[in-house]
Amino acid sequence: MAPNEGRVVLVTGAAGGVGLAICRQLAQSGAIVIAADLNQELGQAGVQSLRAADLPIEFAVLDVCEEASWAAVIEGVARRHGRLDALVNCAGTVVVKSLEETTLAEWRKVMAVNLESIFLGAKAALPLMRTTAAGTPQGGSIVNMSSISGIVGVPSMAAYGASKGGVRQLTKSMALDFARRGYRIRVNSVHPGLIDTEMAQRLFEGRVRTGVSRNIDEARKSWIDSYPIGRIGSPEDVAATVLFLVSDGSGFMTGSELTVDGGATAQ
Ligand SMILES: NC(=O)c1ccc[n+]([C@@H]2O[C@H](COP(=O)([O-])OP(=O)(O)OC[C@H]3O[C@@H](n4cnc5c(N)ncnc54)[C@H](O)[C@@H]3O)[C@@H](O)[C@H]2O)c1
Repeated sequence: MAPNEGRVVLVTGAAGGVGLAICRQLAQSGAIVIAADLNQELGQAGVQSLRAADLPIEFAVLDVCEEASWAAVIEGVARRHGRLDALVNCAGTVVVKSLEETTLAEWRKVMAVNLESIFLGAKAALPLMRTTAAGTPQGGSIVNMSSISGIVGVPSMAAYGASKGGVRQLTKSMALDFARRGYRIRVNSVHPGLIDTEMAQRLFEGRVRTGVSRNIDEARKSWIDSYPIGRIGSPEDVAATVLFLVSDGSGFMTGSELTVDGGATAQ
């Protein structure tokens, strides 16, 4: 039997590079995946591509910053599937600016999408996840997407780094609360280094804009050169780590932080 056969998993930010790869690997492991994103067009297209490969996946429109949007999506999951085994909070946004350049509106947006969303999502999903966890031997799992910039400082990432540092701590607090209350829901954070997606493109552009690199190719090369493993990451690298944290192999892990960074923070 596939390791996650019959389990229902909700993934946010599922239209993006990392989120879609997570959906693919979870569905290949037997899970029924609800791919949720604000970007309906891209999200539907991604879901269609996985359905064409016969994977069990459906799309839901979700604005992770809106309490009502979360309530509607969770209500739909409860109605259609009657359970929720895991929640992967992957939606994210980045502003590549120093503190002085960052406006208050940008700061608030980054905090809302990257950090507040996890607070809202956990609150919305908890009742259904608790009921599901109580009826299964393995319990439930929440995986929160942070970043290495939630562990170490990165220049021109004032708001982003602060939000991802918040994700790291919120994860640990949730993990302890849920464990002590006997909810049987594990909570862990994932900390990728640079991953080759649309978001990475924003970072390369930021290096060119601030004069650190002359062009995108040079920015990419300098990033690769700084990674001990000799490459930047792929969405599949991160998805494999999330799959592990959702699956039973990580059953003794809660409140943990896993770096997926080619050795970048080991230096
Ligand atoms: N790419 C990297 O280098 C990198 C490194 C470390 C961490 N991360 C994190 O991994 C996650 C995925 O990143 P990615 O590279 O795939 O980025 P991406 O920009 O390709 O995808 C992000 C997705 O989040 C969605 N999203 C944004 N705001 C939303 C909202 N309000 N409601 C619902 N969905 C929303 C977007 O529509 C998009 O589909 C993010 O949390 C990001 O911070 C990325």
